[in-house]
Amino acid sequence: MTTWLQVKDALKAPVGSTITVKGWVRTRRDSKAEGGLSFVHLHDGTCFDPIQIVATGELSNYTSEVTKLTTHCAIEADGVIVQNPKGGNEIKATAVRVVGWVENPDTYPIQPKPHTMEYLREQGHLRVRTNTFGAVARVRHTLSMAMHRFFHERGFFYVHTPIITASDAEGAGQMFRVSTLDLMNLPTGGLKAHGDKLAPAAAHPGGIDFSKDFFGKEAHLTVSGQLNVETYACALSRVYTFGPTFRAENSNTARHLSEFWMVEPEIAFADLQDDARLAEEFIKHLINACLTERADDMKFFDERIEKGLLARLRDVLDKPFRHLPYTDGINILEDAVAKGVKFEYPISWGKDLQSEHERYLTEKHFQQPVVLMNYPKQIKAFYMRVNAPGTDGAPGDTVAAMDVLVPGVGEIIGGSQREERLDVLDARLDEMKLLKESYWWYRDLRRFGTVPHAGFGLGFERAMMFITGMQNVRDVIPFPRAPGLAEF
Ligand code: 4AD
Ligand code: MG
Repeated sequence: MTTWLQVKDALKAPVGSTITVKGWVRTRRDSKAEGGLSFVHLHDGTCFDPIQIVATGELSNYTSEVTKLTTHCAIEADGVIVQNPKGGNEIKATAVRVVGWVENPDTYPIQPKPHTMEYLREQGHLRVRTNTFGAVARVRHTLSMAMHRFFHERGFFYVHTPIITASDAEGAGQMFRVSTLDLMNLPTGGLKAHGDKLAPAAAHPGGIDFSKDFFGKEAHLTVSGQLNVETYACALSRVYTFGPTFRAENSNTARHLSEFWMVEPEIAFADLQDDARLAEEFIKHLINACLTERADDMKFFDERIEKGLLARLRDVLDKPFRHLPYTDGINILEDAVAKGVKFEYPISWGKDLQSEHERYLTEKHFQQPVVLMNYPKQIKAFYMRVNAPGTDGAPGDTVAAMDVLVPGVGEIIGGSQREERLDVLDARLDEMKLLKESYWWYRDLRRFGTVPHAGFGLGFERAMMFITGMQNVRDVIPFPRAPGLAEF
């Protein structure tokens, strides 16, 4: 029995060690040498580089099996570590065992040649065997570990907030319904569906009786863990939640998913400035971790996915983020329009920034991450703290919101200081026609020991795009969910 090493360790093992490796063939090349000589590149996903196995005609199954190996056949190989003439380790095989053949190699969906990202998306079960998606998977892991470490080291507690919820955190109403009601035979006569969207009055004159539904009321998949995690922040001081979140918006873009992962820290006794500081420190920590822990994969992204990626990321690490009031951001954009820059969507004070505006600010104007702060009240969620009139010289009411915008992606973080004053919160709920009763527990936090607090949400896939240079959000999550897309 020889020692089974993962490829990452075999590549560093001392010359002369007798070892076993197990994995999938990347390529096989046969030389014309007499007696038989083949080079098999083997990967097992543990690092970017494959290890080369040198197999000769002396192996009993050389002709019958080794020379028939094709991409992604599963094998085990025993052998001795030797120095590759070009540097690095290779294995001189004493045995090669085939564990699983690839049937019909000619029609196997992944060929040893470049495939388009679009094509690979249709092969969601196999694409992780390619260089690109292996690297994405490893960096994604590193990013989650770095995220947990960042918060843990700073005394944050990880809170598991629910996925099924009866409240709409963003008040935006783009949620997936969770129900066990029989769609063909809906109980009528009770409560009306929210906004009557699901139940047109004509079809169900009395509305749908959600008291007969599983939870005794309407329930949805959460759009954010924030409201729940705020309750923990107001007891444990520093907390975060990390989990899948769901949005039923019909946006078919390279930056939107219907199911995505969000990390949401929440800090008590903190204001918007504290929030922005935390966001910057956090993003820099994540970049640093990927650069140091996954140098192999990051080098690949730099060479093959986005030229200059590493320089761009180092530049982000070196400079403090640019802080900018929303009002100043609008002035810059209006100036740009006056100077002839063309945007698809008009922009003026009071409007939400479209991706093109965010990218103009962060890519063209500042060429660095920008923290845009203090947005107009009317375009932001009910829970954001209302600012004193005239903050930043704004022509209208603003709230203590911040978005972190980064080159290549646009908005990567959305956050705010929370409204901790009950009377102001209630006025906001009324203004936005949200039912106070359904937010009773959220309001209670403002009645019993209320404190200024703040937090944000980082879109985990947006962070992946920023750090890897991958262009489509569907390629940085293992199995993307988007409108019309739920394969695999
Ligand atoms: O700006 P958002 O909507 O903020 C919240 O949900 C707050 N409750 C967070 C908080 O303060 N705790 O979303 C936060 C981030 C966005 O900046 C973006 O990066 C990402 O989540 N995001 C999406 N990512 C992929 N697909 C989508 N459809 C996304 N929607 C938001
Ligand atoms: Mg946002």
